[in-house]
Amino acid sequence: MKAVILAGGTGTRLRPLTKLLNKHLLPVGRMPMISYGLISLQAAGISDILLVTGPDALGDFASFLGSGKDYGVSLTYRIQEEAGGIAQALELAQPFIGGDDKFIVLLGDNLFEEPLKPHLDAFRAQPDGAMVLLKQVPDPERYGVPVFDVDGHIVHIDEKPSAPQTDSCVTGIYMYDGTVFDLIGALSPSQRGELEITDVNNGYAAKGKLAYRHLSGWWTDAGTFGSLLEASRKLMGDLP
Ligand code: DAU
Repeated sequence: MKAVILAGGTGTRLRPLTKLLNKHLLPVGRMPMISYGLISLQAAGISDILLVTGPDALGDFASFLGSGKDYGVSLTYRIQEEAGGIAQALELAQPFIGGDDKFIVLLGDNLFEEPLKPHLDAFRAQPDGAMVLLKQVPDPERYGVPVFDVDGHIVHIDEKPSAPQTDSCVTGIYMYDGTVFDLIGALSPSQRGELEITDVNNGYAAKGKLAYRHLSGWWTDAGTFGSLLEASRKLMGDLP
């Protein structure tokens, strides 16, 4: 299975830290943010990885990560010319993924504790469709929030709802089959002018093909000052 890490975007919520440096190269714990996703994927047996980022940051990623050899992975790079949304960045992965293969997508600012392998194995066993990983959070209004039917299936995801219906959020760890690119191709920009990953996931949900699992270990994004600090604390454990 191949993987895609999305590390574009503008990082506006972390200005001025992101004025010179891409968000995913900022230090968290003892390493730049991007390192953690690569380590998690490699540990799950995935070595063929596409990294999507913006034109200003590509040189920094290439200098830091090179071919991926130090992480035991093989890296391919693609440029997202402008930050037009997570789904737009993902669309750039189509030539890399090819065919109808299943693959995993990580948002580069998501940090998490537990191994990916059990989740990947569950997705491999799923005939088709997509799978998202959910996490209970105190502030679901910051994220995509699932809405369940009486049987516990996800019928819809609300993106940053003002009145969330549950205390779970959809994390930035997504697993898709090859039909994801058809769904992206049919998307229109949202009110904020982006191609939204939540609209992609809602396309699967509408077909009854959006599975989910829960993350049991800690999870955080690191896209705000508060969450960046929290991520560092978690990654440093009890060590000074
Ligand atoms: O972290 C999980 C959340 O991520 C989900 O719960 C939401 O449903 C999902 O929309 C997303 O929300 P955010 O508002 O946190 O997304 P953000 O714009 O911060 O982008 C997250 C990552 O995606 C970031 O690390 C870089 C990448 N990205 C983002 C955009 C907008 C790109 O590569 N290109 C882009 O154009």
